[in-house]
Amino acid sequence: MVFGLWQVQVKDVLIQSGLYKPLKSRISSKNSKHGESSMSDEVEWKNVTRLCHTKQLLTVNGEYPGPTIAINEGDYVQVKVTNSIANATTIHWHGVRQLRTGWADGPAYITQCPIKAGRSYTYKFRVVEQRGTLLWHAHYSWQRASVYGAFIIYPRMPYPFSAPPVHDQIPIIFGEWWNRDLESMEREMIMYGGGPNSSDAYTINGLPGPLYPCSTQDTLIQTVESGKTYMLRIINAAMSDELYFAIANHTLTVVEIDATYVKPFTTTAIMLTPGQTTTLLLPTNHNSSLIFPISARPFRTSVFPFDNSTAIGFLTYNNGGSGSRVDHHHLSNDNLPDMEDLKFATQFSLKLRSLASPQFPCKVPQEIDKRVITTISLNLQDCPENSTCMGFNGKRYFASMNNQSFLRPSSISILESYYKNINNTSDEYSLDFPENPPNSFNYSGVDPLKENMNTEFGTKILALPYGANLEIVLQDTGFLNVENHPIHIHGHNFFVVGQGIGNFNVEKDPGGYNLVDPPERNTVGVPKGGWAAIRLKADNPGVWFVHCHLEEHTTWGLAMAFIVKDGPSPSQSLLPFSQDFPSC
Ligand code: C2O
Repeated sequence: MVFGLWQVQVKDVLIQSGLYKPLKSRISSKNSKHGESSMSDEVEWKNVTRLCHTKQLLTVNGEYPGPTIAINEGDYVQVKVTNSIANATTIHWHGVRQLRTGWADGPAYITQCPIKAGRSYTYKFRVVEQRGTLLWHAHYSWQRASVYGAFIIYPRMPYPFSAPPVHDQIPIIFGEWWNRDLESMEREMIMYGGGPNSSDAYTINGLPGPLYPCSTQDTLIQTVESGKTYMLRIINAAMSDELYFAIANHTLTVVEIDATYVKPFTTTAIMLTPGQTTTLLLPTNHNSSLIFPISARPFRTSVFPFDNSTAIGFLTYNNGGSGSRVDHHHLSNDNLPDMEDLKFATQFSLKLRSLASPQFPCKVPQEIDKRVITTISLNLQDCPENSTCMGFNGKRYFASMNNQSFLRPSSISILESYYKNINNTSDEYSLDFPENPPNSFNYSGVDPLKENMNTEFGTKILALPYGANLEIVLQDTGFLNVENHPIHIHGHNFFVVGQGIGNFNVEKDPGGYNLVDPPERNTVGVPKGGWAAIRLKADNPGVWFVHCHLEEHTTWGLAMAFIVKDGPSPSQSLLPFSQDFPSC
């Protein structure tokens, strides 16, 4: 095996996917003349070994992580996904707006039935007014643990900062590795209501690095030239943890988050929640044979057991000569914040501001039509009689928004049933998602043992007229424990107009909102024991999933969905479903 080398092959491509190599790595992109790109991806099992454990891993085209998809802003993208496994699957283009193409979004039973064994579905969508780094991942059960990859959008207009050429762009994707089989783990979680096992390692581009047992051979080695600037395309595809990232003795300039430009700022480290992405500029201003650890480690916000390990790769300078080799005694990275460093995380998120320039204006809604305040909670449910429950106090874990634990339908997707007016009695949903918490109290201070934590189950949806300006206040609670929840919204970007600690105060807090240059994104880390207020214009007809991007919380029901109705003009309506749209 070649040390740390892996490469990607996507069949039938017009635009090629990334070619990752330790030397002269990066993305190669052949720009199509027609503004079209199509590719075909096969979901299949592959034997993969990490930490001396070999297991069958679900992959796309046998690659782990999966192929990089790189397109140009404005392209019409077609990806034919063929399911070569016995289970069903779907792929989600995380952060792609999917304007009028909600049936290409991917979340199972929200916008489509999963693709059955042996079947294919071609996702077709256009990418407009987005540029930068996103990701794609499976959106069915826990498959995204290994089925994920980078989704890169090259801008039509010049970058608003001096950007290196395409061959100096380096995708860096964080993930998690479990030695055990995830299907059985998920089954047990659902059966006994306990928490998932923590992962055995974090990975950078699928490689855990030398701090894990039997892992030195699986270390990312990234070679750079001195005196240049590289563009790092960073993606947190981990399942359960916010991660800090830093490169020892190097500074990073943040220029874009979730495929929207920000006011550039320089930092020694970043924090990314699962589902968040960012583009960084990395000046390589050393000239030495030293190697520099590239590290990712969790930002701990929960009292639950978690994987407290650190993934490491190495940055080496190719002018270091043959003396440049990995020295495992130099693994320290002073730039990497401590796992408990809440202050760093808070300050980092407050530095993020939309670029808000004449070419790239910040379109935050100044007025709102509706404000929805929702708690985000973990819950404990009493154990049904004659069963075994493995959650805290012998109960079952669930999670909820406004005390509703979201249940996905199983015989038709909500999108299809709404747009085709199919009444399916076994899978009812109702348009009555509560717009306020059922009762108010000191949310972040609750004593779990004194409160009734049982939640309600259902498929309650918020319905919005086309074009509505919506504000959602996401309020963390202290049920079980306060925690940073990365809330992700499909089909829309939103603006994080405010955040704070404690209870949101509807009289006072809106006065302090940033309505000038708030960060625009698709996933927000709601402060632990606090709240975040986000605004969006509901201008994309369809059904859109909203959920915590910590996978166990989605499993437990920390989710909801909203429907944006078709607008009055034909250009404001959902485009027709395609022939190959999967049925359940
Ligand atoms: Cu990346 Cu619904 O998720």
